Amino acid sequence: MAVTDRRYEVGLIGLGVMGRNLAYNMADHGYSVVGYDRDGGKAKELAKGAGRGESVRGSASLKEFVRLLRQPRTVILLVPAGDAVDRVIKQLLPYLEPGDLIIDSGNSRYGDTDRRGRSVAAKGLLFIGMGISGGERGARYGASLMPGGPWEAYERVRPILEAIAARVDGEPSVAYLGPGSAGHYVKMVHNGIEYGLMQLIAETYDLMKRGLGLSPAELQSVYHRWHEGELNSYLLEITLRILARRDEKSGGPLVDMILDKAGQKGTGEWTAADALELEVPTPTIDAAVVMRNLSARKSEREAAARVLDGHPAAFSGDRQGIIDHLGNALYAGFIITYAQGMALLREAARAHGYGLNLGEVARVWQGGCIIRAKMLKDIRAAYQAEPQLADILLDPHLGGEVLRRREDLRQVVCAAGDMGLPVPALAVSLAYFDAYRSNWLPANLIQAQRDFFGAHTYERVDQPGIFHTEWDKT
Ligand code: 6PG
Repeated sequence: MAVTDRRYEVGLIGLGVMGRNLAYNMADHGYSVVGYDRDGGKAKELAKGAGRGESVRGSASLKEFVRLLRQPRTVILLVPAGDAVDRVIKQLLPYLEPGDLIIDSGNSRYGDTDRRGRSVAAKGLLFIGMGISGGERGARYGASLMPGGPWEAYERVRPILEAIAARVDGEPSVAYLGPGSAGHYVKMVHNGIEYGLMQLIAETYDLMKRGLGLSPAELQSVYHRWHEGELNSYLLEITLRILARRDEKSGGPLVDMILDKAGQKGTGEWTAADALELEVPTPTIDAAVVMRNLSARKSEREAAARVLDGHPAAFSGDRQGIIDHLGNALYAGFIITYAQGMALLREAARAHGYGLNLGEVARVWQGGCIIRAKMLKDIRAAYQAEPQLADILLDPHLGGEVLRRREDLRQVVCAAGDMGLPVPALAVSLAYFDAYRSNWLPANLIQAQRDFFGAHTYERVDQPGIFHTEWDKT
């Protein structure tokens, strides 16, 4: 592509860490990029950091930025999700023309994406809502991209997106996911799964640290072993690196100096809330959100620890045995978490008309993103074998792998219970698995109670129809 005609192929708005790195990534692949940031300093810095002549330049004037773009224009927004996106679109629209394309790459809430897509389309412009995962490194060297919107808009930018995406076995970690907010929905669920996996890992860390009293070096060697095997994943890789990092000030492990209060920007909570709305059970993800909320109540927990005797009991069993159980339990917990996320996507695809290809979603998640893991290859294969698979736990391979580890999960949950260590994500993953594979649940009693106090009726096991009993009559 010619980069000297002073018309740039892509425009980027928001030159923070993600925007800047994405611009350099595009330039590396031969695209000319103009960036805009209302902070003129950032706009200036952009070209300096690129060091490649005129292929990247910054502008602190929105009008000039738009003028510098080749038509039809492509403008990628990398501004914080929320009001800022609406503000930027509002400022931008007077300068754009029908046929131009806006791509919102923040973690926008999917309902907002639908609304923005409609209002932009009413002016004859195109709109893509695209999730990006992979943080700073992903933006610079290859991210996982989750775009949704009009097909023709995707086709127009497909070469750019394929160029800047991570690659796995030669395939770019990007796919057209569906119309409207499909991309942002998939990114939201990606983050919900991210919350679940992080909480599961944190519980294994707690059990080994407080429960078994493992030293930092011992912890590292356990996670290293797990990461070398079937649990190979980005989140375990960074856990290992976090455990290895020493604090310059105290000389001890840095992680021990970090306050135990987890923050959150909302995507996990949105996933859990939307799952409840769509009546899809996602208890591992829910537990992860709940535990972040509970962790944030630090001073209340400190007070409670004093009056409620919060010290866990020591572990008295076979230490190596429980560590082995723990590795298997974590693997099962991971699969169960992906299963819940995928089940939510399946229902959302139906409810919102996304027409998602879940095998493609698993493929896009194999590279660049935070939840990338070796097991996603098996999840993709499960959908390739059976595209209409109701739940990945019904795939013979994946279901079999979890089934084989159910006793590990049980041993871990029991040991944690005995010690008084909270492992809600592991516990609820086990309960979910046991409930999902149970052909009978005590919901008959719930139906009877509902009918007793509210005449809500029930069905019978032996004949069709709707029934009500006058429970007060003997
Ligand atoms: C990603 C991350 C990214 C971000 C999360 C963090 O895929 O690259 O998920 O989107 O780091 O929003 O979310 P919390 O602040 O809610 O933990």
